[in-house]
Amino acid sequence: MEKFYITTPIYYPSGKFHIGTAYTEVLADTIKKYKKLQGYDSFLLTGTDEHGQKIENKAKEANLEPKEYVDIQVKSAKELWEKMKIDYDKYIRTTDEYHIKACQKIFEKFLKQGDIYKGTYEGWYCEPCESFFTETQLVDGKCPDCGREVKKMQEEAYFFNMKKYVDKLLKYYDEHPDFIKPAFRKNEMINNFIKPGLEDLCVTRTSFDWGIKVTSDTKHVIYVWLDALMNYITALGYTSEDEELFKKYWPADVQIVGKDIARFHLIYWPIFLIALDLPLPKTILTHNWITMKDGKMSKSKGNVIYPEQLINKYGLDATKYFLLREVPISTDGLFTPEGFIQRYNYDLCNDLSNLLNRTVSMVNKYFEGVVPNYNGTPNEVDLEFEKEAENAILEYEKYMKDYEIYNSIQETWNFIARTNKYIDETAPWVLAKQVEGESEEEIKIKQEKLKSAMYHLIASLKEIAILIRPFMEETSTNILNQIGIDSKSITWNSLKEYKNIENIKVIEKGEPIFMRLNLEEEVEYIKNLMKN
Ligand code: ME8
Ligand code: MG
Repeated sequence: MEKFYITTPIYYPSGKFHIGTAYTEVLADTIKKYKKLQGYDSFLLTGTDEHGQKIENKAKEANLEPKEYVDIQVKSAKELWEKMKIDYDKYIRTTDEYHIKACQKIFEKFLKQGDIYKGTYEGWYCEPCESFFTETQLVDGKCPDCGREVKKMQEEAYFFNMKKYVDKLLKYYDEHPDFIKPAFRKNEMINNFIKPGLEDLCVTRTSFDWGIKVTSDTKHVIYVWLDALMNYITALGYTSEDEELFKKYWPADVQIVGKDIARFHLIYWPIFLIALDLPLPKTILTHNWITMKDGKMSKSKGNVIYPEQLINKYGLDATKYFLLREVPISTDGLFTPEGFIQRYNYDLCNDLSNLLNRTVSMVNKYFEGVVPNYNGTPNEVDLEFEKEAENAILEYEKYMKDYEIYNSIQETWNFIARTNKYIDETAPWVLAKQVEGESEEEIKIKQEKLKSAMYHLIASLKEIAILIRPFMEETSTNILNQIGIDSKSITWNSLKEYKNIENIKVIEKGEPIFMRLNLEEEVEYIKNLMKN
């Protein structure tokens, strides 16, 4: 079985995860499930980034030891992923002993190789971002990433010699066009960070304690970003006695990050890997943000929404659908209560749920629930529809190659709309109606057309159920159950068997999978959630 290794960022456990964090996790989980359906041995890594000044301070505020504080946060993070049915294979915590040991070994290796040297750090530090900046990098004296206050710092520190590897990195970019997706991020890195002259990176601190100690110089703590980035390989056992997973899964096939941390993953991370003489990931996928009307989500603005709030009221599948449908990879998406409810009503209820309902009731009405077998005298309408059914799969897969899930979903909903149109085109209720004075021959033709229409509708619903399966598994299973197909037998390959649905019986009376919501009431409801 071919392997496929996917990673998410390891999040700071410094508060409840909002829908932004959930978005990344759902993206990764969808890719994992897509690959799994395709028969890959896919492995998804996620976790938490638990060291650093910010966490230390948060713990202090809560009157807890840092470890006690992160234990509580991690418990709720894991509960959320469980609620969201995230199918991760490993959860790494940077406070795990194996990770600490591996980081220390890696640090000493860099020292020994001369990649890390001792110097003095002078500059500005943004605590929420755990990032250092030079005077010139600041914007109006504030953090260029988040716009918040920065602190002046001066201390003895170790540095990583980034300059030594810049040329190798640029050469790698050039020779591996799939490394950076979407591709425009490459020029962003080159123009904003590499051309102005890449600074050596400060990789230790002495001003706080909560972190991994440098073994050969214990008053230094390893800078959180060096510690954090290593998780992608330490999680697989790199440098440990058991490197089996590492040998099997590294290099990663796709590593998913938000645009806020693109610089760390597109510049420092590959340089660390080059210095370790390890292969680089095949793709680093940088996605944009989910934003609110008034900009970034923040508690002080009172515009934060948490995934469990939406899931509890509207269900997991609707929540995931909205996130993936509303946030393209390469532009920001917007969360609005209106947008959420409209997607629910139009896309899920009108387009999908009604299609299923109409189809199931027609098969019951005209054929006592038994889907007629297809006996191959396709007319032009059917032939064209079949072609579009095939095309929807090709388009979906094409976009998924670049992990443009947003576009794959759009193609799926185009096909759902096309299937609804097919009902209008074939007008089964007309075909089913006897007209006075009709000849035997005419009746027979109409009957054949009616059979074919039902057959094609069921085949298309099966296709739709498979296409949505990576991100709406429950809905997918529900659709398959209603049309009498065993969901356990489904793989991605089942898509190739569009015409292989023989002797199946649909459910007698299917419940609607999504019910229309009252727009005003629900918008009010969500707005209230955001205030609290
Ligand atoms: O940066 N829209 O952790 P973090 C979309 N520990 N995605 C969002 C988002 C939004 N509004 N807000 C957050 C860190 N994210 C480091 C990572 S990795 C070695 C270390 C997602 O808790 C997005 O993926 O600040 C972003 O990159 C990540 O959460 C940042 O999480
Ligand atoms: Mg952040």
